[in-house]
Amino acid sequence: MLYKLRLRLTLWFVSLSILLYLILSILFILVFNHLLTDLLNEELRGLLREIRPSIVYIDNKPTLKTWASVAKSFSVKLLATIQLYGADGKLLEEYGPSGAKGLYKGVINFRPKQDLPSILSYYRDLEINDKYCGFLQIQLSTKTRDDALNRLTWTIAIIAPFLLAGLGITGYFFSATAIEPTEKSFQVLRQFMADAGHELTTPLTVIQASIETIENGQSTNNMDPEIISVMLRSITRMSDLARDLMLLAKMEIPQLVLEMKPVSLANVLKIIYLDFKESFEQKRINFNLTINTEKSILAHEESIRALINNLLQNALRYTDNGGSVSLSLEEKNNHIILKVKDTGIGIPKENIPYIFNRFYRVEKSRSRAQGGSGLGLAIVKAVCEAHNALIKVDSDINIGTTFTVSFAIIT
Ligand SMILES: Nc1ncnc2c1ncn2[C@@H]1O[C@H](COP(=O)(O)OP(=O)(O)OP(=O)(O)O)[C@@H](O)[C@H]1O
Ligand SMILES: [Mg+2]
Repeated sequence: MLYKLRLRLTLWFVSLSILLYLILSILFILVFNHLLTDLLNEELRGLLREIRPSIVYIDNKPTLKTWASVAKSFSVKLLATIQLYGADGKLLEEYGPSGAKGLYKGVINFRPKQDLPSILSYYRDLEINDKYCGFLQIQLSTKTRDDALNRLTWTIAIIAPFLLAGLGITGYFFSATAIEPTEKSFQVLRQFMADAGHELTTPLTVIQASIETIENGQSTNNMDPEIISVMLRSITRMSDLARDLMLLAKMEIPQLVLEMKPVSLANVLKIIYLDFKESFEQKRINFNLTINTEKSILAHEESIRALINNLLQNALRYTDNGGSVSLSLEEKNNHIILKVKDTGIGIPKENIPYIFNRFYRVEKSRSRAQGGSGLGLAIVKAVCEAHNALIKVDSDINIGTTFTVSFAIIT
């Protein structure tokens, strides 16, 4: 699928580049044509200005014969056609290459015959003592300009296939960089699905085995309470997993920000403290709560509860009987600092960078035996990210672990 995406990206890149190349080439040819024509026009106007004073009038008829004999002596080949017409419109004299006959009034660029190159033509009326006595006309072939334009068009056309090949190859390599993040996301998703599937397999196998035992031996009226409790534990584990997965997915949606409102962390903490008190007592763990601020933060309350629950769940799970766990809230530098500190087993330094990854457990057997699937801290991290909160972990083996979360106070 990603290969197809890569090909499609390359195709888009090449098509758009070629389209851009075409548009730019056409524009370039038009501008080039305009500039060259302007140059020729300028040249013709200059010639007209130069020649006009050399015209002499004999019997009211204009002539350039004197000028022509001088020009000839310089043996310069005339590129422009110079024509002199009388008052009756008849051609009197013509110098240079043969041009189109007759007055081309106002026409500056025309093609006299199908097989002839186009011509630029200029004229000026001639008068002596305010009396019209003919006109001077100068014409210049546009062959040089048309040849240059032709060559330019061919060059652009010849470059096109090479450009296409070059763009295709570059596009193909660049598209690999472009789809890299997508490929990574797919990999994460694949890994995530594999992990989730693996986590579901264990409780499902247990339930299946339990049902088979029932099917093979006992009547449903007289079920072994042990089997029922095994099945219940497995079902609880699956529903916990489903709940955690849904919570994680919820953290990703942008609407969560819209659901945020002022939340008093102190109030949330007081309720959760009571919820956990009994569980800590059962393990003879000294559990205490210190609240030093009543200020609120902008938050999604359900997610904040999940964050604190997960940190306390871990403290309870990874602290041995007789230890102590403290939960505290204080204000520092315009932030509310939430701390969960335990005197538990601690986390090895080399594992700390990974503990927030989904399904990651330091001691797989111990965590799994206690029903853990490794999603708790992934949820904690996702909640922190959704609330722009910072989380820090300090841990020493057999001394304990402290999780510190700092939230910005709303002003
Ligand atoms: N307070 C702690 N003390 C020692 N180790 C911890 C503590 N908190 C987390 N860990 C380690 O980090 C791992 C990841 O924790 P996390 O909460 O994500 O998963 P879990 O507790 O194993 O399972 P779940 O939270 O999904 O039930 C744990 O398996 C444990 O090894
Ligand atoms: Mg946990």
